Amino acid sequence: MRLNTFLARSGVASRRGADSLIEAGRVTVNGLRAELGSNTAEGDEVALDGVVLQLEPYAYVLLNKPPGTITTASDPQRRPTVVELVDRPERLFPVGRLDADTTGALLLTNDGALANRLAHPRYGVEKTYLATVRGSPCASALSQLEEGVELDDGLTAPARARVARRGARESVVELVVHEGRKHQVKRMLAAVGHPVVALERARYASLSVRGLAPGAWRDLTPAELAQLRRITAV
Ligand code: URA
Repeated sequence: MRLNTFLARSGVASRRGADSLIEAGRVTVNGLRAELGSNTAEGDEVALDGVVLQLEPYAYVLLNKPPGTITTASDPQRRPTVVELVDRPERLFPVGRLDADTTGALLLTNDGALANRLAHPRYGVEKTYLATVRGSPCASALSQLEEGVELDDGLTAPARARVARRGARESVVELVVHEGRKHQVKRMLAAVGHPVVALERARYASLSVRGLAPGAWRDLTPAELAQLRRITAV
């Protein structure tokens, strides 16, 4: 394992922060000053400022992201980050991004390998959104959403769309997508003439926020974790 990964997984810094600690000469491996880019093997004794470090156990948390929180590490506008909402000793990070005003299912973990696979287009992880939109989408708007919408970064992949609640002024569209482009759902719905007023991610893969109040979080169950591993196994 790369030394900076070991330091990140022991919870002392991000991987980039770990590089700075190594460069500053604060990290030793088996008593010797470590160098940038080096690796550690099982049984090595890694220490920061003389204190021996241990790898943190993996943690997997589902957060019902409330509005106004951001999924990046920090924000010039000083809005709260999703990481601050999850009171865990491990250093967790969100898997993928949701807009600040989007609510709903967000997975946080310190398992970088699983997070990378979940975010990789190859696995096409299913995301289910409930979008409150202006107007009342007709059948042709729904089939456009399903077949592919031309956006400025290309045609969207096949999706599933249905109207979950119809109103003359506003409706709720359930849209199930497998991609994760920036502002994808808002752009898709705007492109078919129904701008999004509010957006919630109801499910991420098999993980549902049902029963979780906005801002609340819980550990994944062993069955949920096994399911995430299964869908990213090949
Ligand atoms: N699509 C969007 O437009 N916004 C999100 O936050 C997630 C998906």
